[in-house]
Amino acid sequence: MDVLSWVPDGVDVTVPNVARAYDYYLGGYHNFAADREFVARVEVAMPGFSYAAQANRAFLGRAVRWLVDAGVRQFLDIGSGIPTLGNVHEVARQSAPDARVVYVDIDPVAVAHGRMILADDPYATSIEADLRRPAEILGHPEVLQLLDFSQPTAVLLMAVLHFVPDSDDPAGIIARLRDGLAPGSYLAISHVTASTHRREIEQVRRLYQHTLTPGLPRAPRQVKKLLAGLDLVKPGLTRVDDWLPDSMRATRHPQAEVMLGAVGRTR
Ligand SMILES: C[S@@+](CC[C@H](N)C(=O)[O-])C[C@H]1O[C@@H](n2cnc3c(N)ncnc32)[C@H](O)[C@@H]1O
Repeated sequence: MDVLSWVPDGVDVTVPNVARAYDYYLGGYHNFAADREFVARVEVAMPGFSYAAQANRAFLGRAVRWLVDAGVRQFLDIGSGIPTLGNVHEVARQSAPDARVVYVDIDPVAVAHGRMILADDPYATSIEADLRRPAEILGHPEVLQLLDFSQPTAVLLMAVLHFVPDSDDPAGIIARLRDGLAPGSYLAISHVTASTHRREIEQVRRLYQHTLTPGLPRAPRQVKKLLAGLDLVKPGLTRVDDWLPDSMRATRHPQAEVMLGAVGRTR
């Protein structure tokens, strides 16, 4: 495949982009020199930051498997990133072939690539939208075509809320999403924190300031506050690799401490 065929017109690949940088942390191929140089600078600021990204992705997979076991068959994955290994529809369909998934991202490259790989899949799609406008996502025609919000749905907000500053009211965004779901639905999140590795995370934050989507860590109590109105399933809000870890899990990297994750149930 021509490596540029999945890049929409007008996208400047010489500017680092957080979706493509994340792809590179995970060992993917949908990234460019500017993204790789950015990741190299992040790795200088915090050696092993990529392990935190990988632990986050593994948590996403475990959370989706847990949600499928809990009976969920519909997923709205917001801030889904560039489709890479262990996408939600792939994980969910291992035990629920009827699972439906809508991927949402603000990044046109992530969405274009998602639409390309899902072109022949009638039960999964990818749309370009902004988490900061939740009503537009819940009312989007392609979302409503695939998802029935009168039935339990899981909204995934994995490694995306730290791109939403307090001035954009992340708690209000979550409440709007939560209130649009049927009782017995779920919201799963992961979030960067700085309660450990404080100095390194501050350096990483400064680097992300130069991207189109600057990020900010939140303290565990601030992350917990975002989950108000949801009943957290066990083990609650934990570092991502402590959330129902696989019994055969690989090395536990200290850098993964900077990613917190939780799954909450709507009332
Ligand atoms: C670190 S990646 C996480 C990917 C995936 N959720 C995961 O955890 O494996 C964060 C993604 O959030 C997207 N993003 C950032 N701000 C967003 C917003 N306001 N609305 C939608 N997506 C956003 C970025 O483009 C990027 O693809």
